Order: sequence, then C-alpha cells, then structure tokens
Amino acid sequence: MSDMLRYDGRVAVVTGGGNGLGRAHAMLLASRGAKVVVNDLGGAVDGSGSSATAAERVVAEIVEAGGEAVADRNSVSTVEGGQAIIKTALDAFGRVDIVVNNAGILRDKSFKNMSPEFLDPVLDVHLKGAFWVTQAAWELMREQKYGRIVNTSSAAGIFGNFGQTNYGAAKMGIVGFTNVLKQEGQKYNIKANVLAPGAKTRMTEELMGPMATQFRMEPELVSPIVAYLCHESCKVNGEIYSAAAGRVGRIFIGATKGVFNPDSMTIEYIRDHFDEIRDTEGYIIPGSAMEEMGLLMKAKK
Ligand code: NAI
Repeated sequence: MSDMLRYDGRVAVVTGGGNGLGRAHAMLLASRGAKVVVNDLGGAVDGSGSSATAAERVVAEIVEAGGEAVADRNSVSTVEGGQAIIKTALDAFGRVDIVVNNAGILRDKSFKNMSPEFLDPVLDVHLKGAFWVTQAAWELMREQKYGRIVNTSSAAGIFGNFGQTNYGAAKMGIVGFTNVLKQEGQKYNIKANVLAPGAKTRMTEELMGPMATQFRMEPELVSPIVAYLCHESCKVNGEIYSAAAGRVGRIFIGATKGVFNPDSMTIEYIRDHFDEIRDTEGYIIPGSAMEEMGLLMKAKK
C-alpha cells in the first residue's frame, strides 16, 4: 500500500512495553519502521518485583519479525529512571522522536482504606513516570524541533471508577500534564496527546466481565490510534482519544456558556439559575485556560 504511514528514521520509547498495550504499541511502531526502546521494569500488576524478561521477550518478538528494538528495564518512576530510559535510546539509536508513556500498575482500595502504600506507588508510576520520562526527552525534542508524545490516561480517572481514587487522580493528572505540554511544546512541533484505552491485559482480565466475551478486547485494536498520534502527520495537540475493542472516539472537556451577573451574584442567584449554569447547550471546548477566560469576555458583550 503506497499511502501506508511509516516511521522510518524515527526512534520510539514505549514504557511498560513488556506486556499488554505497551507491547502492542511497540510491535506496531516497529513493524512500520520505527526503532523502538521497549522499556519495562518487569514487575507484577501491583508494581512489586522486577525482571528483565518482559522487555527482552518483546524485543525478541520485534527482531524476529524483522524490526529493530532494544530492551530497557529501568523504572519510569524516578528522575534517574527517566533519564536512564532516554539514555538507552540515545546509546542505541542516537535520537528520540516518540515517547509513549504507558507503564502502569494498579493498587485498588476503597477511599476509606486508602493509605500511602496504595497512593504513592500509583502516583509515582503513572503521573510522575510520564513526567520524568518526558522531561528527559524534552530538551532533545526542543532542539530537533520535533516530538510526538502519547500519555496513557484512563476512563477511570476521566469519568470515575469505584475503588480507584489513587489511580483516577494519577490518570486525570496526566490529562492536566498533557494540556500544559501542549502549550510548551507547540512552537517546537512537539505534540502531546492522551489515550484512554480499554483492552484485555493481565491488568484487566479479571475486571473485564462480560465485555471480554462480547467484544474483541485485544490491545492490537488500541495501538493504531496511538501510532497515528505518534506520526509526523499528526495535527492534533493536547487532545484525548478513547479506544477499545475497535471503537475509537474523542473525549473532551467542555465549558458551558454559564451565567454572567456581576452586579448581583448571590447564593440565591446561583440557586435560581443552576439549570442555566449547567446547561451544555452552546458549550465550547477551550484550548487553554486563557480561552476559557474568553467566555467572560463573550458574556460581557
Ligand atoms: P499491563 O500490566 O499488561 O502492562 C503494564 C506494563 O507496565 C507492565 O509490563 C509493567 O511491568 C510495566 N510497568 C509497571 N511499572 C513500571 C515502571 N515503574 N517502570 C517501567 N515499567 C513499568 O497493563 P496494560 O493493561 O497493558 O496497561 C497499560 C497502560 O494502559 C497502563 O498505564 C494502564 O493504566 C492503562 N490502561 C489500561 C486499560 C486496559 O483496559 N487495559 C484501561 C485504562 C488504562
């Protein structure tokens, strides 16, 4: 196919690439010519333990299929880990064009029972992990005026899921992180977008229930939108895409028109206009905090 999207000459880092979704993203990018760093700590779903085999296994699969890849087993969750992962890419391939922040763990607990032992590792791997790996690549991307970043969020944070206050906070933090990356990277042709995936992996197989039998939940159905957002032709920046079982859609945060009444803004005014405040008719999707402020200018007119 002549119009096939390819990644020749591009170097991609996929964190948590040793299993599930990360493995599928790494395999797809490599199959289209990207040189891939498959990063994976090789631990259990709750983040305990580590081993080199997860990343090495996927590298072997990529090489077997005729692609190029190297394994990295550093943890994403520290500044040093992030730097070491990007160093692996530089040592092996001399540059970094694409970062897919995908590494993740789960430590579910109802909020009542949430303790630092459940919160801290989840924030460290998901939120800080995306932060430190991206930051290690950021200067390189600015210098080369090119970068594509996909950060993995979750519907559990964007919309909510019982027992996952830690995970939900981390995953929605990733949305805020990406919104700001969008602005800081814009003039350097660095584009950062968010994925909210759904797939049957070791992380979710027990949680899937009937979804797993009704739909094709393989990770390979999620990877095309990730690869698309990593391609040089990608035009969008700071957007959120949801992908599961062959469905791909956009998720966005909108702002309602609201009410404007500086002269008599009272609690009772709020009560009496609450439906109007909440009314989504005529909503906008602000591209920045300033654009949201623009609603005020519009209301004043
Ligand atoms: P998975 O457990 O199959 O893969 C996650 C990988 O991340 C594992 O190989 C693990 O070793 C690695 N990892 C964990 N901590 C790490 C660290 N500190 N440094 C480097 N690697 C580390 O899980 P899955 O389902 O493939 O998840 C991938 C991402 O997608 C995660 O961020 C997850 O939260 C997210 N996600 C997945 C959903 C699904 O339906 N599978 C739904 C929503 C979000």
